[in-house]
Amino acid sequence: MPIDIDAISEPVALQPRTKPQPKQMDSSQPAPGVLVIGSINMDLVVRSDHMPQPGETVMGSEFATIPGGKGANQAVAAARIGGSCSMIGRVGDDVFGKRLIENLRLNHVETNHVRITQDCPSGVAVISVDGSGENAITVVSGANAQLSPDDVNALENAIAKAKTIVLQLEVPMPTVCRAAQLAKQHDVPIVLDPAPAPPEGLPNELMEVDIITPNQTEAQLITGEPVRNAADAKMVGAELVRMGATHAVIKMGGEGAMIVSLEGDMHHVPAFPVSVVDTTAAGDAFTAAMAVGYAQGLSMQKAVTMGCAAGALAASGFGAQTSIPNRSAVEQLLRSRS
Ligand code: RIB
Repeated sequence: MPIDIDAISEPVALQPRTKPQPKQMDSSQPAPGVLVIGSINMDLVVRSDHMPQPGETVMGSEFATIPGGKGANQAVAAARIGGSCSMIGRVGDDVFGKRLIENLRLNHVETNHVRITQDCPSGVAVISVDGSGENAITVVSGANAQLSPDDVNALENAIAKAKTIVLQLEVPMPTVCRAAQLAKQHDVPIVLDPAPAPPEGLPNELMEVDIITPNQTEAQLITGEPVRNAADAKMVGAELVRMGATHAVIKMGGEGAMIVSLEGDMHHVPAFPVSVVDTTAAGDAFTAAMAVGYAQGLSMQKAVTMGCAAGALAASGFGAQTSIPNRSAVEQLLRSRS
C-alpha cells in the first residue's frame, strides 16, 4: 500500500523534469519495488557517556549485536515503509551471516540475491554511541568486499525490473559503478547515498544519478566545499547538480535537508524535532524513505519530507535496524506537520 501522500504538505510546485522519471508514477498502485545493492553488517554496539579518547578506557552501559550495514539498513527501511524491497549483497558463512539473512527475511526483504560467501566472515561494524546520541563507526568489510561486478552482471534482469535502485559505497567501487551502468542501460532511476565518501571523491559516472543524498561531511568530501549552513548547502547542492546529479539532497541532521534540482529549484525541508537517542542509521532511513516516495512518483519535496520523518524516528531509537520506523509511524509524524 502506498504512503498516505496527502499527509504531506507541498509548499512549492516543481517544474517538469528533464531526466528519466520513476517508472511507477501512479500512487494509487501498490508501492513499487526498490532494489538495494550494498553492504550487510552485524553491528557491535557499545553505549557510554562519552567516547574514549586515544589511550583512554571508559566504562560502557550497554552492549548489543544489532543487524546493520548501510545497504541492509536501507533495504529494511524500504520494506518497512514502502512494502516491497529486494537486496543484492553478500554475507559470510558464519553465525552472523545466518542471522543477518534471517533478519532481512523477517523484515520482508527479498533475499534470493544475497549470497553466502564461503570461508569468509560477515561484515561487522564496531560502533560507539555517546550520551548525546553521536556515534563513531569502524567497519570491517568481510564478505561485502567480495560483492563483485560479475555478481551484479549476473543479476542484470533483477536490476532491469526494479522501479528504483538504491546504492551506497560500503561495497567495492567497481561493483557500484557496474550496478549504476546497468541501471542506466535499463532506464531504472538511481538513488546514490555516497556513504562513506572516498577522500578522493566520486567517479564521474556515479555523479550522473537521479538523486544523490550526501550528508554534510560527504558533500564536502565530494565537492571540496564545506557545508556549515543552508546557504552553503545550496551552493554545494548546485555543484553536485553541475557535476551530474539530477537532484542533490543534502542531509543536515537536525537542520533538515536541502534539495537542489537540475531545473534550478532549491528547497529547504525542515527537520522533525525529536529527542535524539542514537543517530546510527538515521541517514539510511532517510535515503530509503525518500527513495520509496520518489519511486511512488511523489514530488521531491514530499519524498524528502518522508525522508526527514523516517530519519528523525530512526534517530530517536537505539541501534540501526532496531530503530528504523514502519510506515504507520512515518505517516503519523507526517500528519503532525500537515
Ligand atoms: O549507517 C549506519 C551503518 O553504518 C551501521 O549500521 C554500520 O553497519 C555501518 O555500515
